[in-house]
Amino acid sequence: MPSMIHVSAPGKLMLLGEHAVVHGRPCLVTAVDSRLHMTLTRSGDDRFTLDAPDVGAHGVTGRLADAFRDGRALTHGTRFIESALRVFAEQIGLEGGVAIATRSDFSSQLGLGSSSATVACALFGLARLQDVELAPQRLFDLGLETIRRVQGTASGFDLAAAIFGGTLVYENAASRRIEPLGAPGLPLIAAYSGIKADTATYVQRVNARLAAHPAAMEHIFEAMRALVIAGRDALIQCDWARLGELLDMGHGLVHALGVDIPQTAALVFAARAAGAFGAKLSGAGGGDCVIALAGEDRRAEVERALEAAGGTLLRVAPNAPGVRVETESTP
Ligand code: MEV
Repeated sequence: MPSMIHVSAPGKLMLLGEHAVVHGRPCLVTAVDSRLHMTLTRSGDDRFTLDAPDVGAHGVTGRLADAFRDGRALTHGTRFIESALRVFAEQIGLEGGVAIATRSDFSSQLGLGSSSATVACALFGLARLQDVELAPQRLFDLGLETIRRVQGTASGFDLAAAIFGGTLVYENAASRRIEPLGAPGLPLIAAYSGIKADTATYVQRVNARLAAHPAAMEHIFEAMRALVIAGRDALIQCDWARLGELLDMGHGLVHALGVDIPQTAALVFAARAAGAFGAKLSGAGGGDCVIALAGEDRRAEVERALEAAGGTLLRVAPNAPGVRVETESTP
């Protein structure tokens, strides 16, 4: 059994279907090559120690029995790791103490899915530290349980990206669907709007609009489903012009949900004016990131336009591999 293990998991960007996925429709998501890194070291006692500087946690330590006890974490920044420790202890069994340290290639402000990548790393790393083989589907189930104990309604699409990697159709309906798609060469550009969005707030806003206008909102969600189905085909055929047009329509629909803001709209229009195949906001809305697709001949121009409109380019490539071991050492 290893005494120390270094694992990593990718961030993600939503291509199509945000919010609708919370309401049982499919979405399209790609894992990106900015990764969350985690080192797990056995400690041989009954304690955990957590260092997660990106979320302000430095040397947080407690007894394993106190991790996420009664649904409460020792600090806000450690709640996802503590929840993972509790779920792992309950469902697999923890064989002693552990020190966990994280480092991220990307800021948790960007909305790239750092919480899900953290959960994927924690559960996968704990299993590997104890030589337990967890099938990806089982890892996903444990991860979703971990996240839901912290934040209630999560669709799990970002966890699927963190575990399975690549580009996926994800649907969390009566039967769950996680369908890997080949999408080689997806010409993705991403930019941060400069505004940190609070996902829970925007999920609630969409819920409020759904309660006020159920028939119209169900139609929007169904239109989003149609875009995801068409987007899947366009991805498989590497038809970027067609996928771009679908992204444009997707942006119109998230605007109709009420989660677009002037800053994301400005970036989307700037990318289109500079010759992108298409552009949209990506994620919960209220800020975070926008994505665009552009051919090689337009890429530099679209990137310049996004920066001129106030965006910060994210140098991320799509289709990144899922959670994995980087290195391990045995005593
Ligand atoms: C947030 O990135 C995407 C949402 O669909 C929430 C979720 O799927 O959990 C708004």
